[in-house]
Amino acid sequence: MEVQWVGVNPPRLGPPHQAISVIFSILLGMWPSQALEMSVGKTTHMEAVNGSTVMLPCTYASCIGIKNLYFNWQFNDNGTMQKVCDSVIASEGVVPQVKIYRERVEFVGMNDNNNISILLWNITFEDGGEYTCFGRNPKEKFKNHSAVFTLVVVDELKVVDNTVATIIASAVGGAIALLMGFMLLKNFTLFVLSKLEEKNKECLVTSSGIDNTENGLSGSKADSKPTPKKK
Ligand SMILES: *[C@@H]1O[C@H](CO)[C@@H](O)[C@H](O)[C@H]1NC(C)=O
Ligand SMILES: *[C@@H]1O[C@H](CO)[C@@H](O)[C@H](O)[C@H]1NC(C)=O
Ligand SMILES: *[C@@H]1O[C@H](CO)[C@@H](O)[C@H](O)[C@H]1NC(C)=O
Ligand SMILES: *[C@@H]1O[C@H](CO)[C@@H](O)[C@H](O)[C@H]1NC(C)=O
Ligand SMILES: *[C@@H]1O[C@H](CO)[C@@H](O)[C@H](O)[C@H]1NC(C)=O
Repeated sequence: MEVQWVGVNPPRLGPPHQAISVIFSILLGMWPSQALEMSVGKTTHMEAVNGSTVMLPCTYASCIGIKNLYFNWQFNDNGTMQKVCDSVIASEGVVPQVKIYRERVEFVGMNDNNNISILLWNITFEDGGEYTCFGRNPKEKFKNHSAVFTLVVVDELKVVDNTVATIIASAVGGAIALLMGFMLLKNFTLFVLSKLEEKNKECLVTSSGIDNTENGLSGSKADSKPTPKKK
């Protein structure tokens, strides 16, 4: 389990029982989020084709609850942070009035399940870069918390790489299939040869009663394998 440190204060370990409970929480995969926590999810990086519409995900979490939570999205435009949108969430579940400062941006999270995601419509190459989801909860003495999501705008999704991978995969697969086929063929050949040998031995042993054994042998062989008809 990966513990995200984005916007989370390092834990201050108090008395032993507290440390134990912290460790227990880690083991359970639940970090005690005393503070506000902004999260863009497990995937913090995304590739999208120019002209497409993408969602920049962000949610917040705070176990002490929120009141007048200020949040915004910022775009790192070559070093300077540009505000994309911002708003204040009065309390949990309230749909905020979001001010939009950038074109083709739509607020879609609607604070539903602490969701403050935005949509970027018809992205251009200029839209590529780092987007910071920022939050500040007055309940926490105005500490800043943020998470960064990186958008990479590409001309087309890496089809070439996939093709190469497919070629390699099919080449490897083909080679394995060929090898297996070869081994099967070899085994089959050896099998047939051994059978022929066997038959020859049998023929040598039972050379006296040719008529009966010959029919019986060829009959049983025909069931299992297409063996040569000649003796
Ligand atoms: C993406 O950009 C290229 C080059 O600027 C352009 O030719 C293409 O039409 C664009 N694609 C979309 C879907 O806008
Ligand atoms: C970013 O800034 C550098 C230096 O200020 C400048 O040379 C470069 O052209 C800028 N890039 C963009 C995409 O604005
Ligand atoms: C996105 O592009 C489509 C097709 O070009 C257009 O109809 C739509 O209005 C655009 N949306 C925005 C938000 O610019
Ligand atoms: C946030 O809301 C958007 C739009 O309704 C939705 O697509 C997305 O899955 C939501 N994200 C989370 C983490 O709930
Ligand atoms: C929090 O961010 C604001 C800008 O939004 C900044 O002015 C302030 O100094 C930051 N506070 C801390 C403690 O980093």
